[in-house]
Amino acid sequence: MTSPPRIAIYGAGMVGNYLGGRLHGHAHVCFVARPRIASVLKEHGLTVSDLHGHRRHIPVAELDVDTQASGVQGADAVLVTVKSAATMEVAHELAEVLAPGTLVISFQNGVRNVADLRAALPMCHVLAGMVPFNVAQPEPAHFHQGSSGELMVERSAALSPALRSAFEAGGLPLQACDDMQAVLWSKLLINLNNALNALSGLPLREELAQRAWRLCLALLQREGLRVLHAAGIRPAALTALPARWLPAVLSLPDALFRRIASRMLAIDPLARSSMWDDLQAHRRTEVDYINGELVALAKSRGLRTPANERIVALIREAEQSYAQWEPQELLKTLRNA
Ligand SMILES: NC(=O)c1ccc[n+]([C@@H]2O[C@H](COP(=O)([O-])OP(=O)(O)OC[C@H]3O[C@@H](n4cnc5c(N)ncnc54)[C@H](OP(=O)(O)O)[C@@H]3O)[C@@H](O)[C@H]2O)c1
Repeated sequence: MTSPPRIAIYGAGMVGNYLGGRLHGHAHVCFVARPRIASVLKEHGLTVSDLHGHRRHIPVAELDVDTQASGVQGADAVLVTVKSAATMEVAHELAEVLAPGTLVISFQNGVRNVADLRAALPMCHVLAGMVPFNVAQPEPAHFHQGSSGELMVERSAALSPALRSAFEAGGLPLQACDDMQAVLWSKLLINLNNALNALSGLPLREELAQRAWRLCLALLQREGLRVLHAAGIRPAALTALPARWLPAVLSLPDALFRRIASRMLAIDPLARSSMWDDLQAHRRTEVDYINGELVALAKSRGLRTPANERIVALIREAEQSYAQWEPQELLKTLRNA
């Protein structure tokens, strides 16, 4: 019998603790976390749950938690789960400690993390991953999956059968994909809602149930789709609908939207975007790597994305001093941008 793979979670926050908690027992998992998170795990253990009723507690004695990069030594695979702004720092920390040939998977939003990791870790196999679901932290040591979807990862021979089996056994089957850049751009279009959700102050389900918020999102996505088209980037279809149809569906009246896009509203009633959490905790958000990425791509093509530019500015302001927006007021602001 082969021994279970050793998986290190680098940057154990919402996504990292959830993935690690699901994989625990099917793999040897080491959590590399900030001291504040490590002490919570060392006091309470780790609980993971999901919207389908799965719930599991891992006692303190069974957790391997480290606050140093050296915690990843000996890992067969490292899952990078920090926010995009921390990727370069993490890449350099990993370069100091990883053995050549180690598999590194970026389970992050944003389209440039993999290139940054590859540049700093030329001796490792770096693969793109994508987390389609929302993860929240209802209690300090409890991480909850609030919406559905399967993890996606770049197809590669570096993904060993043992590693794939560990994910499968943990209830997180990996869907292999040949064009992860198209997936990440498509996810970015969906993530344009993160900033809106943060500014709304509402849970995701409540926000998306209101047409005025969906019209804001449709406006941001239309700008995004125009820029991607100009740049020759074709976003992958992550939902039953092609990405280019999403703005029209989002613009439907509430009752019709509820009927046609019920899956989009199949989210835990309390789930919010992690950008909202960042603003509440006075942390710098990922807006530069989401809306800001489209703004930069547009500029490189001599185009403009005024509504996304406005959102970046509003989130920058909210990082200093949070203010909740009414949807009609924000829609007017974005249309006039
Ligand atoms: N949460 C979701 O629902 C969700 C869903 C899909 C995808 N994502 C994406 O997944 C990624 C992670 O998101 P998240 O919500 O899990 O973020 P998070 O809760 O902020 O977790 C990241 C953790 O990594 C820590 N960290 C940063 N640099 C580190 C370092 N050098 N060494 C050790 N730890 C370090 C952070 O600490 P500090 O705060 O002190 O820096 C934080 O505790 C993001 O790209 C996000 O967009 C999130």
